[in-house]
Amino acid sequence: MEQIIEVRSLSKSYGDFTALFDVSLDIEKGTIFGLLGPNGAGKSTLIRVLSCQSRPTSGHAFIAGLDVVSQKKDVLSIIGVVPQENSFYEDLTVNENLTYFGSLYRVPGPEIKERSSNILSMLKLDEKTDSRGGTLSGGMKTRLNIACALVHKPRVLILDEPSVGLDPVSRQALWDTIREVNREGTTILITTHYMQEADALCDRILIMNRGKIVVEGKPGELKEAAGEKVLQITSSPGNYGIIKSSLEHIQAIRSCSISDTALKITLGEELPAQDIFDVFKSHGEKINSVESSSPSLEDVFIHAAGEAWH
Ligand SMILES: Nc1ncnc2c1ncn2[C@@H]1O[C@H](COP(=O)(O)OP(=O)(O)OP(=O)(O)O)[C@@H](O)[C@H]1O
Ligand SMILES: [Mg+2]
Repeated sequence: MEQIIEVRSLSKSYGDFTALFDVSLDIEKGTIFGLLGPNGAGKSTLIRVLSCQSRPTSGHAFIAGLDVVSQKKDVLSIIGVVPQENSFYEDLTVNENLTYFGSLYRVPGPEIKERSSNILSMLKLDEKTDSRGGTLSGGMKTRLNIACALVHKPRVLILDEPSVGLDPVSRQALWDTIREVNREGTTILITTHYMQEADALCDRILIMNRGKIVVEGKPGELKEAAGEKVLQITSSPGNYGIIKSSLEHIQAIRSCSISDTALKITLGEELPAQDIFDVFKSHGEKINSVESSSPSLEDVFIHAAGEAWH
């Protein structure tokens, strides 16, 4: 196993405020790694440090063994960064944009041509080579933004919330794009707030909160560790707050949360459903519906994000 990204005891403060606390992590070469966490968790801060846009206050980070501070130039030549805002020029055509970004990275002219045509066909933009960036649809703009970060054949592609504002079809297309780039051997680091996206795409995910790592692992492992089963129960009159306090005393119940019109119960171990129904009955509640499912990545996220708040 070769680690392409190594983060060691990294901290980043802005004045008195510490946005990253002693973060250490490894990302294996060739994988798709998801960085998750609630707003303000420190995801973009970590990404800015890894992409040499911001210096850590203490600690180190290496990409392919290169220090992001002391070997910044070398690091920049082997990473591609897709920022949340589009980085291409709206007035330039798709091809002109790629040529511009290629020359920025000093890629020789003939190589830019060959590389651009490969990237554009991979990202299904080959019919738009002569269209101006500004005239593309939202999903195509996202793809062009990614294309610009790929012209210099980076070994690592870093994307900060690339799927914001995309419709479900464009989002699927983005996932295909990311998988395709990954199949070419590029390691992917991506942040997202869409749990379904993280689950579908990522080999491993890391959830952080308030500048600290809460949990890291394969999506499947994290879901398994989250609990045995999730029950979603609706009842009338639906005084969920009181039922929740009673249920929380039962050992097999790991957590309860009130979601929309239901009470969501995560079981850490098997428990006869009747035991739970009895609690509802004892509070004069009539059960309307019961849904049982396996924990989702969203359950893992809510649990992890909640934990660090206490
Ligand atoms: N330049 C800055 N100066 C001061 N504080 C900052 C600066 N940049 C980020 N922060 C703070 O650091 C914390 C982490 O911010 P960051 O942008 O890394 O969060 P995030 O996880 O990317 O959140 P989001 O999901 O909303 O994008 C926040 O509290 C933010 O206000
Ligand atoms: Mg962010």
